Amino acid sequence: MYDVYKIREDFPILRKKLRGKNIIYLDNAATSQKPVQVVEAISRYYREYNANIHRSAYLLAREATQIYDEARREVANFIGCDEDEVVFVRNTTEALNLIAYSWGLNNLHNGDEIILTIMDHHSNIVPWYLICSIKKCRIKFADITDDGYLNLSHLEDLLSPKTRIISVPHVSNVLGTINDVEYIAKLAHEYNALMIVDGAQSVPHIPVNVNKLDVDFLAFSGHKMLGPTGIGVLYGKHSLLQSLNPFMGGGDMIKSVECSIGGGCRISFEYPPRRYEAGTPNIAGAVGLMEAVRYLKRVGMDNVRRHEIDLTKYTLDKLSEVSGIEIYGPKDPAHKGGVIAFNLEGFEPHELAILLDQLNNVMVRSGLHCAQPLHMRLGIKASVRASFYLYNTKEEIDIFVETLKILSRKNRM
Ligand code: ALA
Repeated sequence: MYDVYKIREDFPILRKKLRGKNIIYLDNAATSQKPVQVVEAISRYYREYNANIHRSAYLLAREATQIYDEARREVANFIGCDEDEVVFVRNTTEALNLIAYSWGLNNLHNGDEIILTIMDHHSNIVPWYLICSIKKCRIKFADITDDGYLNLSHLEDLLSPKTRIISVPHVSNVLGTINDVEYIAKLAHEYNALMIVDGAQSVPHIPVNVNKLDVDFLAFSGHKMLGPTGIGVLYGKHSLLQSLNPFMGGGDMIKSVECSIGGGCRISFEYPPRRYEAGTPNIAGAVGLMEAVRYLKRVGMDNVRRHEIDLTKYTLDKLSEVSGIEIYGPKDPAHKGGVIAFNLEGFEPHELAILLDQLNNVMVRSGLHCAQPLHMRLGIKASVRASFYLYNTKEEIDIFVETLKILSRKNRM
C-alpha cells in the first residue's frame, strides 16, 4: 500500500512553512527534495568515515574506499549493469560531455551525422555542437508530432550510413514524453550507430534497466533522485568504456606515469571506471546517492511510477477546468512522466510562477527549461512547468489548480 503521507514524514523540508503556509514543491524535474536518510548518511560519512579513497593504506581510508565501491555496486544494481560500467561524474551534463569528448573526438569524422531530437535539453545539444564544430560533423534533429510525441518515422528518415550516434532524452523535461528508447536503440544498432540516452528525467521516476533497453550509454543525476547535488552517473557498456581515452587526466586514473627530465612521458591509464574519475571524487555525494537509491528501492520504482501516473492523470483532469490554459505534450499519463508544461492566457510564464509562489507557495519552474529549440518548435516564447515526485499529494494539486483558477478569473474580470 503506497502511503504518501508516511513518505512525506521523511522529508524535513516539506514541513517548512513560508508566509505561514505549507510549501507546495512542484519543481522536481529541476531537483528533488532529500529524505532525512540521505542527509544523515552524508553527515555520518563525514563524522565517521571521511578519508581519501584509493590512495592510503590505513584502515579509515580503506573503509572510505569500501563505502565508495559499495555505492557504485548499489547504483549498478539499480539500473541492471555491472559495477565497472558505472562512472561517477558530477551530473548528467558532465556524463554527456564525457561521451562527446572521449568517444566523439576520437571516433567522429568529417561528414558524420548525429541524430538528436528537437525535445532535447541543451545538455544533449551543446556538447555535440562543440564536438561537431571541431570534427566537421552534422547534427540532425528528429521532429515531434503535434501531440508532443517523438516523430519516429521522421527519425527513421534521418538515418543513413553516415549516422554515428542517436542520442535522445528518455523522458522530456518539458513535455514529459516517454520515448521508446528500446526501439530507437534497435534502429541505432542496425546502422552501427551508438545509442545514448539522457536519463535525467527517467531514472528517478520509472524503472530503468540498461540491459533490457540495450543502450550504449545512459546519463543521469543524483540530485533529481533524492540524492545530493554534485554526483551523477554515466553508464557505459563495458566494451565501450574499455576502448575509450579519458575525458580528464589527473590522479587516481592512471596505472603509471613515467617521465624523464628533459624528455617525454609514458602514461598508461587505469581500467574503467577509474579511468574516467580523475582527481578526488565526490565521495560523500556517492554515499548520499547510495542512500537515495536504497530509499527508492524500498519504496519500489513501480510504485513511484504508479503514484506519478495517478497524480498526472488527476492534474490533467483538473487543469481542463481552468479557462485559458494551454498544455504542451502528451495527454495520456501512461506515456508521460510526471511533468506538465503549460501557459495561461494573459500571463507571462515568469509572472505566473511568481504569483503561484506569492499566493500559495506553489513552486514551479518558468522559462525555457534549457530546451529553447523545443519552445521554438512549439511556437512559444516560454512555459510554466509543474513536475511531481513520490511525495506530492492530490491536496497539493488541488491548491495548485485552485490558484490557477483564481488567477485566470481575475484576468478575465
Ligand atoms: N534539467 C533541469 C530542469 O529541467 C534543471 O529543470
